[in-house]
Amino acid sequence: MRLKKIYDFNKIILEKLSIKHLEDIHEYSQIPSFFKYLEFKEFNHKKETVKYLKKRIKENDFESSFWWAIKLKKKNKTIGTFVIHNFEKSRASCEISYGISPLFQGHGYFKLIVNNIIKILEKNNINRIQAITHFKNKASIHGLLNCGFKKEGVLRNYFFDNKKKKYNNAVILSKV
Ligand SMILES: CC(C)(COP(=O)(O)OP(=O)(O)OC[C@H]1O[C@@H](n2cnc3c(N)ncnc32)[C@H](O)[C@@H]1OP(=O)(O)O)[C@@H](O)C(=O)NCCC(=O)NCCS
Repeated sequence: MRLKKIYDFNKIILEKLSIKHLEDIHEYSQIPSFFKYLEFKEFNHKKETVKYLKKRIKENDFESSFWWAIKLKKKNKTIGTFVIHNFEKSRASCEISYGISPLFQGHGYFKLIVNNIIKILEKNNINRIQAITHFKNKASIHGLLNCGFKKEGVLRNYFFDNKKKKYNNAVILSKV
């Protein structure tokens, strides 16, 4: 699948993830609420964000994984990340994951990105897009449902919450 390093979705730009996005990503990675439904906790030291970002950049081969920084055009600021991963050529399927800074949530940016990504993936003849999210993550679940995803089921004890040391169920949704 051939995807671009840069997409312009009006208010939002997706830009291939690189180390130049570090400062902004570190800014929101220190906010505990961002990690409420994630498996790990906030990064208090920049070296943790550097380690995380370098790992993502390494796996970002633009063949099976496609990581972008989400940039807010008017502020020229990175406000999150979006990834298409687990691309399976023979099945024409892939998965999406994402995160938007709590300071920029609730503005419809998620919906804008997902709706545009769906169109791009459909042009690439993708047959199935899936997303797996914490069962209580209402913003994620509602956002996906609003973009035409359907709930398929519950994955029991799927996530391990490193903060509370407990397993949590996940919801799997898809767009076909
Ligand atoms: C998931 C995430 C990207 C959604 O972005 P967002 O900016 O919060 O999205 P929105 O505010 O546009 O909300 C999406 C939809 O869910 C709805 N929603 C938000 N919070 C809700 C809540 N607590 N209960 C019910 N619906 C809710 C919104 O009204 C919106 O619906 P609308 O499009 O009809 O208005 C964002 O919350 C996030 O990054 N969270 C932290 C990281 C994370 O959990 N990532 C998911 C990992 S799988």
